Amino acid sequence: EEIKVFCPATIANVSCGFDVLGLALDAVGDVMIVRKTAKKGIKITNIIGQDLPLATEKNVAGVAGLALLEKSDYSGGFEIEIDKRIKPGSGIGSSAASSSGAVWAMNELLGQPFSNLELVQFAMQGEKLASQVAHADNVAPAIYGGFTLVRSYNPLDIVSIPTPDELFATVIHPQIEIKTSDSRKILKTKLTLETGIRQWGNLGGLIAGLFQEDYELIGRSLEDHVVEPIRSILIPGFDDITSGAKQAGALGSGISGSGPSIFALSQGEVTAEKVAEAMHQTYKSIGIDFDIHVSKV
Ligand code: HSE
Repeated sequence: EEIKVFCPATIANVSCGFDVLGLALDAVGDVMIVRKTAKKGIKITNIIGQDLPLATEKNVAGVAGLALLEKSDYSGGFEIEIDKRIKPGSGIGSSAASSSGAVWAMNELLGQPFSNLELVQFAMQGEKLASQVAHADNVAPAIYGGFTLVRSYNPLDIVSIPTPDELFATVIHPQIEIKTSDSRKILKTKLTLETGIRQWGNLGGLIAGLFQEDYELIGRSLEDHVVEPIRSILIPGFDDITSGAKQAGALGSGISGSGPSIFALSQGEVTAEKVAEAMHQTYKSIGIDFDIHVSKV
């Protein structure tokens, strides 16, 4: 018995929601085949597309799967094959796609004994392996779909947020790799009250904008005063890309996850494509290689 699943790429943080907000992309992701086996344990049989470890304990899908098996009374095991289309270190949830895809598929094959919240907890073990911190802002949208808010980590509390119909994302990936673990080390661990006020004003505004389908409010709220001023220095052409996106009609933009990808949100696919064209021209003119995607959220 086997299942083939699409494992979506995700944009974590979405500017003002560091470690709590994330969204899943409809059109960008990996494909994974998971199969039940009589032999206990998890075996990763094949990974195409990227050079990643096959050893179960070194692979995020393996580690997440082991966390699920530990809580399950199933006596057999699973084999996993991954068509890895999301580049590791690109900032669109490469590790989250693998760890959440694996546990989601296993849960289906076992007849859904676990809730989505439990699946997120298993998948977070993969994130811990990848970045040393078990953050949930990529795995939660990968499992629930759409936008999710991690209302609390302890106890884990995840809230699904509705996605307005016309919301599209444009994501550009300059061809450099930034490890999440490295880009977390450079962050400040303390905030001033003034910065906190600006940040939670925007986070509340963004959530309200999503509920009310108020695209202008969504755009106004896409600001990050905590992480972006520090991390954007690592990303070539960041200011040019974001100002060009805005001129091309984007609602707003920011760093995708821990970077280096930059995302923009737009109302409608036509605008999202115009934003892609503007981003394309910016990187072309400064001589940076890139991948670019437009996707429904
Ligand atoms: N919230 C995490 C970070 C996401 O920004 O470090 C990593 O993809």
